[in-house]
Amino acid sequence: MNIDKAKANLITNGFLDIELDPTLDLFAGIEKLKKEKNAIVLAHYYQEPDIQDVADYIGDSLGLAQKAQQTNADIIVFAGVHFMAETAKILNPQKKVLLPDLKAGCSLADSAPAAPFKAFKDKHPDHLVVSYINCTSEIKALSDIICTSSNAEKIIESIPATQPIIFAPDKNLGAYLNKKTGRNMVLWNGACMVHEIFSAEKITKLKVRHPEALVIAHPECEEVVLQMADFIGSTTQLLKYAAASKAQTFIVVTETGILHQMQKDAPTKTFIPAPPNNNCACNDCGYMKLNTLEKLYISMKYELPEITMNETLRLAAKKPIERMLEISKAAGLLG
Ligand code: 13P
Ligand code: SF4
Repeated sequence: MNIDKAKANLITNGFLDIELDPTLDLFAGIEKLKKEKNAIVLAHYYQEPDIQDVADYIGDSLGLAQKAQQTNADIIVFAGVHFMAETAKILNPQKKVLLPDLKAGCSLADSAPAAPFKAFKDKHPDHLVVSYINCTSEIKALSDIICTSSNAEKIIESIPATQPIIFAPDKNLGAYLNKKTGRNMVLWNGACMVHEIFSAEKITKLKVRHPEALVIAHPECEEVVLQMADFIGSTTQLLKYAAASKAQTFIVVTETGILHQMQKDAPTKTFIPAPPNNNCACNDCGYMKLNTLEKLYISMKYELPEITMNETLRLAAKKPIERMLEISKAAGLLG
C-alpha cells in the first residue's frame, strides 16, 4: 500500500499499513529516527522482546507515566496500550505522542464505559473515586485519584480511613486492596481478560512438578490465584523480586512479555509462565502484542498514528493523575 492510501485507511486499520523492505535493519533505522527527531521510545514489559530491546525506557504503568512526565524529547513513541499513551499525552499536551497501533486497547479499560460508570458514581455521592490507571480518560476525568499496581496501597492509605471509596475498574485488584488495607471499598465489576484466564488448578499441577518454585503474581489475578502466590506485585515489583530472591525457579502469573526482562536480569534462573485455563495463548495480551517493531519504525518515520485529545477532557483527566504522581513522589515510589 502506498503512503497516501495507508494514511486514508489509518483509522480503519489502526496503523499505517505499508510494506517495508525486508532487508531494512529496523533496529538501526529506529535508532537513527530517535536522533533525527529527538524522540524517545517508552515500552511496557508486555511488549515483544525486540521492542523492549530497542526502547529507551521499559517500565510498569507508574514508571512509564513518571518517565513521560520528565522527558525532554519532542516525540514520545509509546510502545504499550492506548490508556498508557493517552496518559503520556495528558501530561504532555505540547509533545507529539505516537502509538504504533491505535487498536492496542485494554479489556480492563473497556470494562468500564463512561455512562454506566457515571450512574454508578452518582449512586454513591459521598464516595471518593480511586481509579486504576487502566481506564479511559473519561473514567479518569470522573475520578479523584488514579493509582497503579505499584502505588495502589499507598494511595488508598493516604485517604482518611473514614472516607468511603469507590474503586474502579478492576474488581480483583480492588478486592486484593480491601484485604490488604482493611477497607470496604465499593468495587466496579471490571477485570482483565488476560489475568482472569489463569487456572489455579494448572498452577497447582505446576507446583507439584516444580515444588521448589515460587509463585509470583500480578494483583489483577483472581483471589483463588493470588492465594497461591508467594509474592504479589506490579510488573516492576515482580521483576525486582525475582532478581533479588535466593530462589532459582519461579512460576510467573502475569502476561508472558515480562519473561524477557526476567531472563535478562537473572540469566541463570528459570521462569515458567503460568498456563491459562485452556490451550489458547491467552496469557499473551493480544492488545499489547498488536505493536510490532515494523509498526514502531513506520510510526516514527511518518509520525502517525498520533494520540490527540479534547482539551477539556485532558484537563479533567490530568488532575487525578497529577495527584497520584504527587503522592508517589512524596512516598518515594518509583515504577
Ligand atoms: P503494571 O502497571 O504492573 O505494569 O500493569 C499494567 C497492566 O496492564 C497489567 O495488566
Ligand atoms: Fe489491559 Fe489486561 Fe492487556 Fe494489561 S494485560 S493491557 S490490563 S488487557
